Amino acid sequence: PINLRGRCLLTLDDYSPAEIRFLLRLATELKAAKYAGTEQPRLLRRNIALIFEKDSTRTRTGFEVAAYDQGAHVTYLGPGGSHIGHKESMKDTARVLGRMYDAIEYRGFGQKLAEELAAHAGVPVYNGLTDETHPTQTLADFMTMREFTHKHLSDLTVTFLGDGRDNVALSLAIGAAKVGIDMRIAAPRNLWPDEAFIDHFRTLAKDTGARLTVTESVEEAVKGADFLYTDVWLSMGEDEAAWPSRIKDLTPYRVTGEVMAATGNPFAKFMHCLPAFHNAETQVGADIAKRFGIDCMEVTDEVFESAASIVFDQAENRMHTIKAILVATIAG
Ligand code: CP
Ligand code: NVA
Repeated sequence: PINLRGRCLLTLDDYSPAEIRFLLRLATELKAAKYAGTEQPRLLRRNIALIFEKDSTRTRTGFEVAAYDQGAHVTYLGPGGSHIGHKESMKDTARVLGRMYDAIEYRGFGQKLAEELAAHAGVPVYNGLTDETHPTQTLADFMTMREFTHKHLSDLTVTFLGDGRDNVALSLAIGAAKVGIDMRIAAPRNLWPDEAFIDHFRTLAKDTGARLTVTESVEEAVKGADFLYTDVWLSMGEDEAAWPSRIKDLTPYRVTGEVMAATGNPFAKFMHCLPAFHNAETQVGADIAKRFGIDCMEVTDEVFESAASIVFDQAENRMHTIKAILVATIAG
């Protein structure tokens, strides 16, 4: 029997394949109960702190709605307004919040800070995205993949195109190694995951039959894929001065209609953690369009808006999977 009560979620590295599958099953049950109007609140009178040192739409709202649905309360601590990060150490913050809250979500920069928080809080700490990894995203991605294919996760081929060092890409790859996915990363050589990461994947994969291909060839990477996944070309916290080189290096890895067709799979789906740059309708998009003369980056508007795109299912499933984590680790 699996019991995750009291557990942190800092990276999927810390979760066994059976524990990952348990969370996905629980998320599916909780989603069905919410739709049926039969959800039982299992987190009454619990309090959860949400620390965000970077912006968020989905992760913040996912945690808030999940908590409220289950009867818990949340406190949002944004980039300003508390002492976190400038006047009080993470260790002291952890010991304070651990006295008041039943669990803490943390979105920030270095993974080390999330680990420091977890080491001293005495309550479950969840990684809501760090520079290194985004485990709650990966759980939502797996849940969504299961909804859009009849295959088992271990029979899937998933291709990430773009920045091969991206936190979402590496988190997806760790998850893939754990559940036995044929994972491909198409990226320019200067943005490949480092050797240590590739070795780590291959070590995990020994137990699960997962495979990893890292290649510069889009054609090789997408052939036979069930899901094509991409993310922004520059992540939060990275130096904006890198824009010109990222655009030059990553334009060949854009997900276009031709790339979708090159899978050879008429059922192939497009995935993105969001936010996405698929047109120039946002302020950032308009600035980029003006500076570089392009109106999309990692994905064309055509693919993003196509029937193959399941990005908003992913977004919704952030909430259901986060709810599963809260219920499993706080209520048990
Ligand atoms: N995908 C994701 O984490 O989105 P937010 O940055 O809006 O939370
Ligand atoms: N790689 C992106 C993901 C945002 C959800 C970032 O870190 O900015």
